[in-house]
Formats: sequence, structure tokens, C-alpha cells
Amino acid sequence: MCRFWDLTLMICFSVSVMFVGGDNMTELPPPKNLTFIWETPFRLSLTWEKPEDLDHSCRVNYTVHVYSSQDCSGKSNSKRVQTLGCKLEVPNENGLCISVITNPENCEQRRNSQPMNISIAPPSVMLVKNRSNEYSHSKMKCTWIPVVDVQDLSLYYWLPRDESIKKCTPDKTIKTRGCIIHDKSLKEAMNIFYLFNGTYNGTSVSNAFKDERPVDYVKLNKPQLTIHRDEQKLLFQANGSDLDEFTKECYTYQYTISNCNKKETTLDIKSQHEVQYDPACKYRARVQVIFSKNCGEGSSDPSDEVEYGEDNDPKLPALLAVIIIPLIVSLCLLVSLVLLRRHKDIIFPKIPEPSLLFKDMLINNIRTPEELQSPAAGRLYIPFEEVVESRISLEPDTPFVPTMKNEAK
Ligand SMILES: *[C@@H]1O[C@H](CO)[C@@H](O)[C@H](O)[C@H]1NC(C)=O
Ligand SMILES: *[C@@H]1O[C@H](CO)[C@@H](O)[C@H](O)[C@H]1NC(C)=O
Ligand SMILES: *[C@@H]1O[C@H](CO)[C@@H](O)[C@H](O)[C@H]1NC(C)=O
Ligand SMILES: *[C@@H]1O[C@H](CO)[C@@H](O)[C@H](O)[C@H]1NC(C)=O
Ligand SMILES: *[C@@H]1O[C@H](CO)[C@@H](O)[C@H](O)[C@H]1NC(C)=O
Ligand SMILES: *[C@@H]1O[C@H](CO)[C@@H](O)[C@H](O)[C@H]1NC(C)=O
Ligand SMILES: *[C@@H]1O[C@H](CO)[C@@H](O)[C@H](O)[C@H]1NC(C)=O
Ligand SMILES: *[C@@H]1O[C@H](CO)[C@@H](O)[C@H](O)[C@H]1NC(C)=O
Repeated sequence: MCRFWDLTLMICFSVSVMFVGGDNMTELPPPKNLTFIWETPFRLSLTWEKPEDLDHSCRVNYTVHVYSSQDCSGKSNSKRVQTLGCKLEVPNENGLCISVITNPENCEQRRNSQPMNISIAPPSVMLVKNRSNEYSHSKMKCTWIPVVDVQDLSLYYWLPRDESIKKCTPDKTIKTRGCIIHDKSLKEAMNIFYLFNGTYNGTSVSNAFKDERPVDYVKLNKPQLTIHRDEQKLLFQANGSDLDEFTKECYTYQYTISNCNKKETTLDIKSQHEVQYDPACKYRARVQVIFSKNCGEGSSDPSDEVEYGEDNDPKLPALLAVIIIPLIVSLCLLVSLVLLRRHKDIIFPKIPEPSLLFKDMLINNIRTPEELQSPAAGRLYIPFEEVVESRISLEPDTPFVPTMKNEAK
């Protein structure tokens, strides 16, 4: 709406500049004596007077811009009227800026006026923060965090079709942090307005808020999920306990199913969902009920996770090949090495140390100069006597000669 008017204004302006040549057009005067009054905490009534020095032939109308902060900047809502005033359903949360412009309707060579602005201060005290709403079955649960200590803090609400504002009867279970509104008209309401008030520092203070349609805050109960197998298929059945307030089309089901390291999220319009069953995989699943965008907004909490089947890990042979077999082989090797070491004398008999042999050969080959003169007198290699463990002998130490002698007798 706001965009549309902004665009219209821009087009009108550029078209008129193009046709008339902007520099010769005179600006209309802005409206006079712009004033406001709060009719209710949610309804702002604006009045202004016709600009001075306006030709009787010149018909004008007015554009009202509403900014939701005290400085006239940022996003605005606008409205075009022919009257000398208008009413706006806009609560004051963070302060407001109102700007009114005079537009020509049939005035020759006149263009839009400068804006006439007024700014409205925000409430002196912020009573609550972090408000949240949960709608279900003609009930709206409102929760908040109190900012200041106000003993008599009350919550009132207003639905635009209603005559007057109503009090939310405090709920003992949530005390100063929430209240549950019971109202049959919540479901159809196009907006909901809230008023918090109480006595702070001896004076009455209040905060007003405007929220979207109650059905944009739908909160559904946590559903239950069951899994059955039907031959080659796996059936997921979502089972919610409060899916009867709106038509069936308003509820969609978001299934999150993981199997064998694969995870998939699918949105289904039915409460039953099926997939092809893979017996080698273990299935884990959750379901969340999503309130359709066509009906409003909201969701349930996700269900508890449900499992089906067992994991027959197809990676086991690979694991065996990569880790277990080499492990066994190296273990065997280790054992055989230990055994080898223990019985090495049997398996590898002691052999003479080769280094001694070589040294011996070298020493024997050193020749004196005299010897060189008579090459014929080459010395032969005389090996050292082999070093053999003295105790080892082929014959037993204890001579059995005597016994042999005895036999000879
Ligand atoms: C502006 O328009 C008036 C008539 O409306 C004309 O007399 C005047 O010459 C114009 N001036 C310029 C700068 O175009
Ligand atoms: C503005 O309007 C109010 C009533 O709406 C009136 O009392 C007041 O005198 C006006 N002020 C001027 C400057 O016209
Ligand atoms: C009124 O607000 C507009 C922004 O919407 C700003 O451009 C203009 O300067 C303001 N005028 C006055 C008189 O404050
Ligand atoms: C205001 O005037 C413009 C022409 O400048 C016209 O297009 C528009 O419809 C009028 N708005 C109202 C609410 O009369
Ligand atoms: C309250 O809201 C603010 C931002 O608006 C956020 O940073 C904070 O975590 C919220 N606190 C709680 C308790 O939700
Ligand atoms: C709060 O607002 C209601 C309705 O406007 C009013 O009846 C009540 O007196 C107010 N309470 C305080 C403490 O201001
Ligand atoms: C309470 O009100 C008095 C005057 O009424 C003021 O001086 C004081 O600063 C206020 N205290 C708080 C915490 O707002
Ligand atoms: C959920 O499913 C069970 C059977 O699986 C059924 O007995 C029960 O009534 C269902 N509950 C709802 C709320 O649909």
C-alpha cells in the first residue's frame, strides 16, 4: 500500500516536471496547525487546517506518512485523504513521526507542498520486552520479560472489530510473565493490539503494541511419529493431537529421515509418508507439523526421534582389509621375531666374525721395502688360527677310554 502511493507520487511528480518544466511551478503551501490526540491507546486522531492563500478553484488532497520512530526517516505507511484529518490505528512503541503533504488535485502549475511534521515521544518507561505469542484453539498465550518492577502490571487487548478493549485475566501459572487470552474472535481477527499498564514510580504508565493476525502465531502440539514396514516400503505416520482447528490443507508435514549417512528433509501434505526400504540401513526419523502459509504461520516442535531397522555396515569388509588384516599380520611377525631371537643359536649357528678375517688378510699382505726388491719372494697368506670357542670340542671331555679298555678286557 505504502509502496504504491510512494510510486504514484514519484510518477506524478516526474510526469509534471517533464511536461511543465519544474522551475516555473510553484509549491503549494503545507497544511496548517497539525495536531493529534490519542482516542484510545491504539487510535491516533489527526487534524489539520486548509493551507492559507489557496485559490478557490484549486482543489487539494493530503498525504499522511507515518514513521515508526521519532525522526521522520526509514520505512513509512502512507494514506491519501481529502478530509482535514484522519484516524490511524497505530500504537506508540518507539515514538512516531507524522508528516502531512498538500497535493494538487486540479491546480494549474502547482506542485506538492513541503511536509508538515509532528513527532510524538515514545512512552517514558518500557514495561516489557521479548514478547511472544502462541495461538491455538481460540486461545492466545502471550509471554514477555518484565523490564521494570511494576506490581500491578496488567495486559489488555483489542481486536479491531470489538467496541472496547478487554482485560486478559492473569494466569497463576505464568504470573507476571504471561497471560492467556480466551476469545472466540481471535481466529478471524486481522490484527491484535495489546496494552500493558501499571503504576511505576507513583504514576500510571502504559505501553501499546500492534501484532499481526493471531493465526500468524499458530503453535501446534508436538506430534508423534510411528514407522511401519510394508514389504518393500517404509511408512512414516505422523500423529498430532490438535490438528482439527483448521481445514486439513492448513497442515503440512516435514519429515526428516536419515539412513546410512544420508539425510533428507521432505515436505508432505499428507500425514503419512513412504520411502523405499533399504534393509541394510538403520532409519532415524522426525516429523514436524508446519502450519501452511495460506492459512497463517506457525509450526509444532519436532517429534521425538524414532528408529527402525539395524545397520548392517557395508563398510565392514573394507575395514577388515584396511585395518584388521594388517594388524594380525604384524602381530604374527612380531611373535615370530621373538621366537627367532630366543632360538637363534639353533636356527643360525655361530659363524666366524668376518671383520677379523679381513684384518688378518691385510696385515699379512704388508710388505717391507726389502721384500719389494725381490718380488719373487712373495709371501704367502698365512691365515690366523681360527678363533673357536675353546670349550667346544668334538670329543667329550670325560674320556670313555677306560670303559673301552674295560670292554677290551
Ligand atoms: C512562468 O509562468 C508564468 C505564467 O504562469 C510566465 O509568465 C513566466 O514567464 C514563466 N517563467 C518561466 C521562467 O518560465
Ligand atoms: C490549532 O487548532 C486548535 C484546535 O484544533 C486551536 O485551538 C488552535 O488555536 C489552532 N492554532 C492555530 C495557530 O491555528
Ligand atoms: C519533515 O519530514 C521530512 C521527511 O519525511 C523531512 O524531509 C523534512 O525536512 C521534515 N520537515 C520538517 C519541517 O521538519
Ligand atoms: C488526490 O489527488 C490526486 C491527483 O493529484 C488523485 O490522483 C487522487 O486520487 C486524489 N486522492 C484522493 C483520496 O482524493
Ligand atoms: C530478548 O531479546 C533480545 C533481542 O531482542 C535477545 O538478544 C535476547 O536473547 C532475548 N532474551 C530472551 C531471554 O529471550
Ligand atoms: C490500565 O488501562 C485500563 C484500560 O485503559 C484502565 O482501566 C486502568 O485503570 C489502567 N491501569 C493503570 C494502572 O493505569
Ligand atoms: C521517579 O519520579 C521522580 C519524580 O516524580 C523522579 O525525580 C525520579 O527520577 C523518578 N525515578 C525513576 C527511577 O524514574
Ligand atoms: C495416534 O495413533 C494411534 C495408533 O497408532 C491411535 O491409536 C491414536 O488415536 C492416534 N492419535 C491421534 C491423536 O490421532
